Amino acid sequence: MTASSPPAGSTTLRDQLIADHHDLERVIRQLLVGFDKGIPEDLVVSWNRFETTLVRHMSVEERFVLPHFERAHATVAMEIRADHVEFRQRLAEMRSDLRLHFGRLPSARRFLGRLEAHSAREDRVLYSWLSSHRGGIDGDALLRALDRPAPSIRLRATSDGES
Ligand SMILES: [Fe+2]
Ligand SMILES: [Fe+2]
Repeated sequence: MTASSPPAGSTTLRDQLIADHHDLERVIRQLLVGFDKGIPEDLVVSWNRFETTLVRHMSVEERFVLPHFERAHATVAMEIRADHVEFRQRLAEMRSDLRLHFGRLPSARRFLGRLEAHSAREDRVLYSWLSSHRGGIDGDALLRALDRPAPSIRLRATSDGES
């Protein structure tokens, strides 16, 4: 994945979801720095932002995208949902670890690695599908729930040249 923003004048739901992944990656990098330095204040701020963004992002996918995607791709959708269940469990476990062991979370990097792999798979499979099969998805409601800055132009189902 790259850290690019959606191109001006060409924004899609896919762009917005990928931008959300990029935000999560930035917070993950801040978290890893916090783990290395063991600075409790930095860690708590980054953790809160990470958890809030991730939980909101997963909820948006489950509410707006997966119900449509799973009609054609039931197995992949089920695996994505299973990842989300696992991530919510791990978030709860790691939040309690965070209070007890600042800077010493041996499983944190594994969890963040799993999350990066999940995001990369969604970029490839789920969001590619979204860019060409948006029928039935309420894009405005999705964007409101995602709580990202409103795009300055009208949303389009696909970008030119997207498959
Ligand atoms: Fe996801
Ligand atoms: Fe995602």
